[in-house]
Amino acid sequence: MKRALITGITGQDGSYLTELLLAKGYEVHGVIRRSSSFNTGRIDHLYCDPHVRGSRLFLHFGDLADSVQMIQLVYELQPDEIYHLGAQSHVRVSFDIPEYTGDVTGLSAVRILEALRKAGRDRKTRFYQASSSEMFGRVQEVPQTESTPFWPRSPYGCAKVYAFWLTVNYREAYGVHASNGILFNHESPRRGETFVTRKITRAATRIKLGLENSLYLGNLDAKRDWGFAGDYVEAMWRMLQQDEPDDYVIATNETHSVREFCEEAFSLLDLDWQDYVKHDTRYERPSEVDLLIGNPAKARRVLGWEPRVHFKDLVKLMIDEDLKLAMRELAMAQASDSLTPLPPHAAPVAPDAPPAKARRPSRRQPARGGTRR
Ligand code: NAP
Ligand code: GDD
Repeated sequence: MKRALITGITGQDGSYLTELLLAKGYEVHGVIRRSSSFNTGRIDHLYCDPHVRGSRLFLHFGDLADSVQMIQLVYELQPDEIYHLGAQSHVRVSFDIPEYTGDVTGLSAVRILEALRKAGRDRKTRFYQASSSEMFGRVQEVPQTESTPFWPRSPYGCAKVYAFWLTVNYREAYGVHASNGILFNHESPRRGETFVTRKITRAATRIKLGLENSLYLGNLDAKRDWGFAGDYVEAMWRMLQQDEPDDYVIATNETHSVREFCEEAFSLLDLDWQDYVKHDTRYERPSEVDLLIGNPAKARRVLGWEPRVHFKDLVKLMIDEDLKLAMRELAMAQASDSLTPLPPHAAPVAPDAPPAKARRPSRRQPARGGTRR
């Protein structure tokens, strides 16, 4: 049985990759951070008590800033494959915590690659680095390919460029089977709620049900090549099954603006996005990546990989799931309202009622904690 170690197992990609590897018969080990609140929601449906015979998913505490634990895990587990997905992955936040982002998103790659060497696994364990289209930044070519030069525009992008070249260097210097997946933006109903697509689908569906009444966004002109996370983890796995390690662009070769995403998402709910979307400069970045569109021809040719979900289907998939979530939230609000009487203006509404003035404090009001996203 093959054994894989995943950093970032609790994230969007970690959860889809775990599903894929378990379905392929792997034993999967994941690194999770100690947190004062539960952070395993995306993988809870996959986890069963390790004392139960046949369990194939195991979780270990660790932090990407702590090389001792990474060495220990590699030494003890002797994994066949490592998927290094863990990162401070939010571009806007990386401007607020650039040093931390450099440590966790950039240096963590060298911690794991060195752990492979120290544990004598450099020629035995295959390594996947979660590289990013954010490295292309101010793009030097359209569409972007594996040979397009990098010009990162954020501390996050700079950290990913470091990790990319570190991965190439360990391949060349020590013969590690180390590959970079240069993944363009990929989304899903499991996407973190502060990334723009999920922020839009969460707000639009909650607005539809009268749970909130506006959505504050930054730059609507930015264009991204958005794919589905479930498709993209398949590409990661295929990279590590090749005889030779290499670097691959994973993308749909289609680009859309944030404005188009809003139009599509709200129109699926028979709403006009312009009635609800407002601008807030706090969601803009000091330097922006204006346009991303990737050419995945090499992945198609060598890996036999194709994206299955495209823009409109992706938006619909996310809206459908978030509408179900918003309905559950409405039902819970109504249940708690029946226990605690609310003032008249806060009365619950039927799912198809037109959006009302703020009944409850909106979760997306910009004043909320002043958090930049
Ligand atoms: P995500 O949802 O933000 O997940 C990040 C994961 O990293 C979470 O499991 C998080 O743990 C973990 N993590 C963060 N800091 C850590 C630390 N100090 N120690 C240990 N674990 C830590 O990201 P994603 O969307 O799944 O993306 C996966 C990877 O692909 C990331 O490296 C990202 O930068 C990269 N990438 C993503 C995209 C995309 O569009 N999604 C595109 C290109 C590249 P918690 O759950 O505890 O926070
Ligand atoms: N998050 C966010 N919030 N983005 C906004 C907002 C907002 O309110 N308003 C406009 N945007 C714009 C951003 O300025 C950016 O141009 C675009 O929406 C996409 O932002 P994000 O969804 O935060 O993603 P990202 O492209 O910055 O980064 C994601 O993709 C990278 C791959 O290109 C992340 O997943 C990175 O980890 C990943 O590497």
